[in-house]
Amino acid sequence: MADNKKPEQIIVDEYVLKPVPATPEFAKLIYDIHASDRDGFKYIMHGKDYKSADEVLHTLTTSRKDDDSWHFAWYGIFKGDELLGEIGLSGINVKNQVAEIGYWLKKSARGHGIIDKLLPTIEKVGFESLNLRKLSIYCDADNIGSRRKAEKNGYVLEGVQRERTLWPDGSVHDTAEFGKLKREWQK
Ligand SMILES: CC(C)(COP(=O)(O)OP(=O)(O)OC[C@H]1O[C@@H](n2cnc3c(N)ncnc32)[C@H](O)[C@@H]1OP(=O)(O)O)[C@@H](O)C(=O)NCCC(=O)NCCS
Repeated sequence: MADNKKPEQIIVDEYVLKPVPATPEFAKLIYDIHASDRDGFKYIMHGKDYKSADEVLHTLTTSRKDDDSWHFAWYGIFKGDELLGEIGLSGINVKNQVAEIGYWLKKSARGHGIIDKLLPTIEKVGFESLNLRKLSIYCDADNIGSRRKAEKNGYVLEGVQRERTLWPDGSVHDTAEFGKLKREWQK
């Protein structure tokens, strides 16, 4: 039986996964990463931009905050002192045994197989530590990079939710839903 505990920190080769400190410095860093690559982040941000580093700080201190109900197992990806991105689980529902996987990398960290390397570790947190039975990846249907991550790592395309998101520019976007079951992961 799993102990329903998520690790505080995980080391995978040269990468350390640990929560991003909710400080103005890291908020500014993430703001700058987004500001320099708005096109690269458009899908994850649903066509919006962070307006300021303060908005990022608010996200770090509220929506990603830890709590007893285990809604998040969300980690910064660090190589030495450098923050490369984030990866983890959100929407954790221990009772229903499901969660969603999310991830982002700054532009210079993409194309090096980092997510492929770290995904199995996050799956282990979900399926083993938290005893979940299903992990889902939701991404904009046009987000080729993210879809590729899901497909390459054995997630099944469960369907496309039509016109699920409305962006500030008025465009509507489909969402692709991928899933992996614990029994598929165990094989
Ligand atoms: C999703 C993300 C983390 C993947 O990073 P990555 O694993 O380093 O990979 P890349 O972004 O370089 O590309 C992913 C794959 O898609 C492929 N790809 C990317 N754009 C492509 C395009 N336009 N046409 C065809 N293939 C494409 C790449 O070749 C790569 O394939 P591979 O894994 O077989 O090498 C990264 O793209 C990212 O941070 N995007 C912004 C945030 C985001 O959208 N997160 C996901 C939210 S659901």
